Amino acid sequence: MSGNSHIPSSEITPEATFLNRRFFMKSSIWAGSTLATAGLYNAFTPSSEVKDIGTAIVTIKEPSMETVLAADEKVNTFKEIASYNNFYEFSTDKSSVALAAIGFVTDPWSVQVGGLVQKPRTFDLSDLHKIESVERTYRFRCVEGWSMVIPWVGFPLSRLLSMVEPMSSATHVAFETYYDIKQMPNSDSAGFDLPYVEGLRLDEAMHPLTLMATGLYGKTLPNQNGAPIRLVVPWKYGFKSIKSVVKITLTDKEPPTTWNIANAREYGFYSNVNPAVSHPRWTQANERRIGEGARRETLMFNGYAEQVAHLYKGMDLEKYF
Ligand code: MTE
Repeated sequence: MSGNSHIPSSEITPEATFLNRRFFMKSSIWAGSTLATAGLYNAFTPSSEVKDIGTAIVTIKEPSMETVLAADEKVNTFKEIASYNNFYEFSTDKSSVALAAIGFVTDPWSVQVGGLVQKPRTFDLSDLHKIESVERTYRFRCVEGWSMVIPWVGFPLSRLLSMVEPMSSATHVAFETYYDIKQMPNSDSAGFDLPYVEGLRLDEAMHPLTLMATGLYGKTLPNQNGAPIRLVVPWKYGFKSIKSVVKITLTDKEPPTTWNIANAREYGFYSNVNPAVSHPRWTQANERRIGEGARRETLMFNGYAEQVAHLYKGMDLEKYF
């Protein structure tokens, strides 16, 4: 990995430090390992073809990074994760996305990484698969009030950003989804302008929990989940997790985001999971975990407060929602 000397050191949490934090050391539940969850993988049709990651993606086991789930929290099944989706370019009906996206071409693929960086670069799939990946099981909370627990495969975004060497003037990262009206049947009825765009502050992007996911359940991503590569920011509402990314741009401005453009009153730039700040249409105090009956209490920062609360120290989280 090339150096990251152009990123202000205050914005980097060395992974070693992070790994050693007590939160992870006390982890005893390796709920995320594919071994532990193999029984929950069931092929599901209709769905795009997924491949065993096998040796194509260099994946390291990272037991100390496994999310600590509460004793009563279960990983969702592959079928649940791959059959209940938001991907408006294909359909606004969650149960229709998988079928609508079945023919979406995700190989070959390239991701252009540029903007305020020393070494702009275009990564093809084989380049992306060479970046050392990890298996991480995260809670995933949608602003609509449902949630899941998902065993991702991917690499920390910080690894990719370090390779292009952000300039010290970069403060934010902008993301863009692939857009092709011919392949995306719901493009005209998505309800917002396309391509789908998202953004993070640079310190959020560099946080070790922030992943570029390339798979789930040890296999490549199904199209409906954002193949071949999507963002996952576990302490933010699901819509920040932009799918099928083709462009990543370092910038010195807060980037525009699709849902904020569509409805600024309902969707802020930060979109941190926060049970204390309600949404005009849905409570954020509790959630329906897919596959469960009773609702669960929503946790501050989706349960990752110990890792991320410091990023927002001194900020008014009602104002910056
Ligand atoms: N990315 C794109 N390009 N288009 C979308 O419509 N929907 C977002 C996010 N990423 C969306 C997207 C929303 S609203 C959610 S909740 C999550 O993807 C859903 O991810 P999942 O289907 O893998 O659960």
